[in-house]
Amino acid sequence: MRKVIIIDGTPGTGKTTIAKKLAEQLEGIHIDISELVEREKLYKRIDYERSRAKIADEKQLIKRLVEIIEETNKPLIIEGHYAEIVPKKYVKCAIILRLDPRELEKRLELRKWPKKKIIENVQAELLDSCLIKTIEAYGKDKVREIDTTGKSVLEVISEIIDALENSNKFKPGKINWIEKIRKEGVLERYLTKFSATNT
Ligand SMILES: Nc1ncnc2c1ncn2[C@@H]1O[C@H](COP(=O)(O)OP(=O)(O)OP(=O)(O)O)[C@@H](O)[C@H]1O
Ligand SMILES: [Mg+2]
Repeated sequence: MRKVIIIDGTPGTGKTTIAKKLAEQLEGIHIDISELVEREKLYKRIDYERSRAKIADEKQLIKRLVEIIEETNKPLIIEGHYAEIVPKKYVKCAIILRLDPRELEKRLELRKWPKKKIIENVQAELLDSCLIKTIEAYGKDKVREIDTTGKSVLEVISEIIDALENSNKFKPGKINWIEKIRKEGVLERYLTKFSATNT
């Protein structure tokens, strides 16, 4: 029953890139939730104020995901920024991809997103938002964190495969960006930059 591996993380942390490769290695099926919502029109409205984002119809989306899960025996790698929508009983493990906020910022800048949207997401990464909502959905025992900073896609995949078996090494709470940035002596400068751009 528990055959789903969730890959979650702040936008830009590499969910789609990693999940596709992981599905190849595990001979499983990769599902990108945003892409599924778009392709099968599982949304209830379009948010014109937020880059025409599609607001998913949660009920329809869950129904469709359960259908997909129940019709296969293969491992399913389900990824997306709100992947915690998958019902707990199907979930074997939820992997949260983490990326140093300074690297994430550079990556999101390449997307040419508006400054405000970049800051919102970098702050979310800094504050462990995705980790917290995933623990709320599945409980600490099912959740693992992977620091992808400075690692190649293949290195991240091999850590995930390790994390699927080895829960202790990757248990939540070991990654602390605020502490890391503080130790490097740039926390204040980093946070000031945000508050200046936020106003
Ligand atoms: N380990 C990595 N090292 C370097 N670059 C990476 C790595 N993983 C992903 N990337 C790059 O980062 C960018 C964002 O990756 P990707 O689109 O997979 O993120 P995502 O989490 O799926 O984002 P979104 O939530 O917006 O869908 C891509 O250009 C990808 O090539
Ligand atoms: Mg993606």
